[in-house]
Amino acid sequence: MKEDNIDATQYVAEILSPHQQILSEYHKLLRAEEIGIVSSVDRGTVSVTGLPNVCLDELIEFSHGSFGLAFNLDRDEVGVILLDQSSELESGDDALRTYRQCDVPVGEELLGRVIDPLGRPKDRRGPLQTSLRRPVESPAPPIINRAPVTVPLQTGLKVVDALIPIGRGQRELILGDRQTGKTSIAVDTIINQRDNNIICIYCAIAQRASAVANVIDRLEKNQALDYSVVLIAEGDSPPGLQFIAPYAATAIGEYFMEQGRDVLIVYDDLTAHARAYRELSLLLRRPPGREAFPGDIFFVHSRLLERSTHLREELGGGSLTALPIAETEAQNVAAYIPTNLISITDGQVYLSPDLYQKGILPAVDVGKSVSRVGGKTQLPAYRRVAGDLRLYYSQFGELEAFSRFSTRLDEETRRTLNRGRRVREILKQPEGSPLAVTSQIASLLAVTQGVLDKVELEKIAILEPILHDAVFSQLPEIYLGIERGEELTSVDLETLISTLQRSVPREFITL
Ligand SMILES: Nc1ncnc2c1ncn2[C@@H]1O[C@H](COP(=O)(O)OP(=O)(O)O)[C@@H](O)[C@H]1O
Ligand SMILES: [Mg+2]
Repeated sequence: MKEDNIDATQYVAEILSPHQQILSEYHKLLRAEEIGIVSSVDRGTVSVTGLPNVCLDELIEFSHGSFGLAFNLDRDEVGVILLDQSSELESGDDALRTYRQCDVPVGEELLGRVIDPLGRPKDRRGPLQTSLRRPVESPAPPIINRAPVTVPLQTGLKVVDALIPIGRGQRELILGDRQTGKTSIAVDTIINQRDNNIICIYCAIAQRASAVANVIDRLEKNQALDYSVVLIAEGDSPPGLQFIAPYAATAIGEYFMEQGRDVLIVYDDLTAHARAYRELSLLLRRPPGREAFPGDIFFVHSRLLERSTHLREELGGGSLTALPIAETEAQNVAAYIPTNLISITDGQVYLSPDLYQKGILPAVDVGKSVSRVGGKTQLPAYRRVAGDLRLYYSQFGELEAFSRFSTRLDEETRRTLNRGRRVREILKQPEGSPLAVTSQIASLLAVTQGVLDKVELEKIAILEPILHDAVFSQLPEIYLGIERGEELTSVDLETLISTLQRSVPREFITL
């Protein structure tokens, strides 16, 4: 009986062995695929069943080639946000796991290009020639990898560089109502980086197509596109695509930062980004909170902006400076998204519609603006000149408002008002005319040292370029010294002031 048994087993093994060999080879080729099925389609999101092991933020591919991100992982259903238009999707379609995270192309080839958040070209310059890719989401650099912010990022705008200076690696919010010049400040800052070796990324989220076309046009005309990347998520693109746009822009910036480069990113704007995220969350039936935004909107923005930093020297010393833009409604800076962003960033430039209407452009409200880290980064020469301008300027504002009620002013007050109005005049700057540091110093010195006290307000704008030319042509040594970051000696200062005084043509002195 026993022998029979052995025989039988041997017999079976003999018969099976070739099959087993084939099977074992075959198994190597086999892979268990999870194929989910679309159970319902919304505008912007879909529900998928049958993907029990899918990971958070995993890319999902649908049967006709479009993509989505796994966003809501429930027990028997996955909420997917769409990165392409949903018009072709139907319930019953297949949804495949891709086992990878959403990523974007990165590299030098992106400079000068206009792309969408998935890296698809939106200009007519053909496909991107880069094989490098980076995940859209990645953790912010840990504290031990970060260095203090020490180098200034010159915006070229006197009012910002003098009163609200920004450093490389800082996050400075640009805040204000619509049509107050927010985009304008950001674009001027990009244009001013032409000789500063900073790579710029302009990320437009749900902006009017005409406004974006205008920005691209201005960058192109000022040869700023050569060192910039423009990333666009249009207002009519799926909210999922708008949502990943700033993260994709940051990933592109991080690549350059890790090469030791200095990078500037403009997010225009994060209130539109918050709205896209709110739309997704409501479609996915997440509970709404304040202003119907989901509870994690703070984390959405803080994890984005924490990725900006200045890396330590051992890690290449690169930096990522962020200029997020937030749009307020009726000057309400206490709304949910603006307050969140104010608390996440290292300061804000507040633009006031009242100043805009009075023609004080850029319409920066100095009293409501602040830069929490940039002050230490100002060039020494600049700090010496702009030192107490801020305090002086805000005192002037108060005095001017107060003096409206009194008819008789003492000499001292009149002099302060006279000087203050000239400071305000010199801080005005038309769009698209960023100024070099030395020219800015010349302007500020002229006004703080009283060179302009006897010049009519209306003539200051005409006189300013004359003074810049004088310093440039007569004092090249000082000019270059300032550019190199050297301190101004007292002798230099005196030379500068006397040169400025001598350079005011007689016909300008009328008072
Ligand atoms: N410094 C400036 N000088 C002249 N015009 C300006 C200045 N800044 C902004 N503008 C104009 O103001 C308008 C609104 O500016 P924009 O930057 O688009 O505002 P926002 O982005 O806040 O909506 C634009 O027409 C722009 O040309
Ligand atoms: Mg704008």
